[in-house]
Amino acid sequence: MEDQRTSFEFDKESLALVEKIIARYPPGKQKSALLPLLHMAQAEAGGWLSRETMDYVASLLKLQPVEVYEVATFYTMFNLQPVGNCVIEVCRTGPCWLNGAEEIIAHLEHRLQIKAGETTPDGKFTLKTVECLAACGNAPVMQAGIKYYENLDVEKIDAFLDDCSSKDATTRQNPYK
Ligand code: FES
Repeated sequence: MEDQRTSFEFDKESLALVEKIIARYPPGKQKSALLPLLHMAQAEAGGWLSRETMDYVASLLKLQPVEVYEVATFYTMFNLQPVGNCVIEVCRTGPCWLNGAEEIIAHLEHRLQIKAGETTPDGKFTLKTVECLAACGNAPVMQAGIKYYENLDVEKIDAFLDDCSSKDATTRQNPYK
């Protein structure tokens, strides 16, 4: 995998943003900034949250590390081990399943030659299945970074994969920059 580093610190620009985000909340309620900071840290630390990265976020917010672990392990959008440059998250909940998610997942597994939960050997793609992405009206749905792809069919998947393969694509955008 391309980026296996486990220690992480925000640069000066990101630290200024961190201060702004924390300042949105009343004194003593800095824990409310945890989700934004985890998203930022994940995007800037190679697409995943190592224990050291979570500990760093805890220190910024003056939290116990376990308060960060319990949040990071609850939400599927946080990756706790190294992932590919493009992380594909396909919804597997009822409405998407009834509208073809099973076929979408099977097609992605076939195209990428991996199973859900795995990363391609070249480190380009990670395929995940997740619960409802809150776009059920346009099922089946997948998320890649900060973008949603809705009313999916195999043609749209092929176009997406071709587009991602043809350039240095990544889904590691910091959503707050
Ligand atoms: S069930 Fe798939 S987005 Fe809600």
